Amino acid sequence: SKPKIIFSGIQPTGVPHLGNYLGALKQWKDMQDNAREADKLFFSIVDLHALTIPGNADKLRQNRREMLTSLLAIGLNPERSTIFYQGSVPQHAELQWILSCTASTGYLSRMTQWKSKLSTLTSTPLSSSFPDPTIASPALKHGLFSYPILQAADILLHRSTHVPVGSDQKQHLEFARECVTNFHSAWSTHIFPPPQTISLDSSSSRIMSLQDPTKKMSKSDPNPKSKIFINDDEATIRKKINSARTDSISTTVGEYDPVNRPGVANLLEILGGFTGKTGEKVAEECKDVTLAQLKMLTADAVVAGLEEVRERFLLLGEDTEVNRKRVKETEEVGTQSAKESAERTMEKVREAIGL
Ligand code: ADP
Ligand code: NA
Repeated sequence: SKPKIIFSGIQPTGVPHLGNYLGALKQWKDMQDNAREADKLFFSIVDLHALTIPGNADKLRQNRREMLTSLLAIGLNPERSTIFYQGSVPQHAELQWILSCTASTGYLSRMTQWKSKLSTLTSTPLSSSFPDPTIASPALKHGLFSYPILQAADILLHRSTHVPVGSDQKQHLEFARECVTNFHSAWSTHIFPPPQTISLDSSSSRIMSLQDPTKKMSKSDPNPKSKIFINDDEATIRKKINSARTDSISTTVGEYDPVNRPGVANLLEILGGFTGKTGEKVAEECKDVTLAQLKMLTADAVVAGLEEVRERFLLLGEDTEVNRKRVKETEEVGTQSAKESAERTMEKVREAIGL
């Protein structure tokens, strides 16, 4: 079979948590390790997407670096994978504009993620859609509406064939394929391979909050005890897992039951995420284990599983001459490689559309 071109992105929004790690980053690292020699991998720190939530320039600069450090810490290898800041490669924005000229507003307005943002930002019912002048609101920014086009541009710019995504992003991948069809038919050309999904929906695709296991573990959750960060030390990890919410239905693990026992199921998922098993499988093996023991087993697995990551993170985070040089070199190598890939595509695109 043909060589794969794998693309994935992550926003620079602080040190990744266990959900980001098990649900995405660890799988990126596995993909890198399992890739064949001819396969290419692109991992982008999507700072342009991060601008949809305006913040502070110094903070963004710091977050970009911190995410780069995190990607190196989880074991991505800049000599094997192209690791780069989206904003350092202007072709991403160039292609976004070009794709936006053949992208359907109606399609964008029907996207689930947009509709839920629209309803939170403007308190309109989920049945409303945008553009609709009656629901005009200063909170509605065009970047939020059109960012699936930027996402499509990210993928297509490197002529990616395989895109690892969680279930929340499937619709956006579908939209990217729609962008390919629209672009090809508008300009009578055939430049982009339609990207395929690599499903990340294993058991660890939804790690829940340790404090409220009915909610996803999320960076936006203000309670620090709800999540574990990839650079947490052993004592912190143990303390957080020890105080994780379970239930009083039974003092032992019993059946895997995410509906009635979400806290227990979450610990089983986390344990399974580090031992390569599903939550169900771990439950079978731990049926008679007490919840206190389950917490200990889970903490052991997280501590051991994150040990190297944490060590590398701390080492790379030290403000030393060697580290500054290493970060700078990684940034330069990544930018260079991504720009070359981008320019190869853009030459074809500009040719096809008359620029
Ligand atoms: P957050 O949900 O904390 O805002 P992002 O949206 O930046 O995180 O997600 C980055 C990546 O991590 C995505 O691939 C997303 O699917 C994955 N991810 C985020 N939270 C979780 C979670 N709780 N469980 C599994 N995967 C997650
Ligand atoms: Na999210």
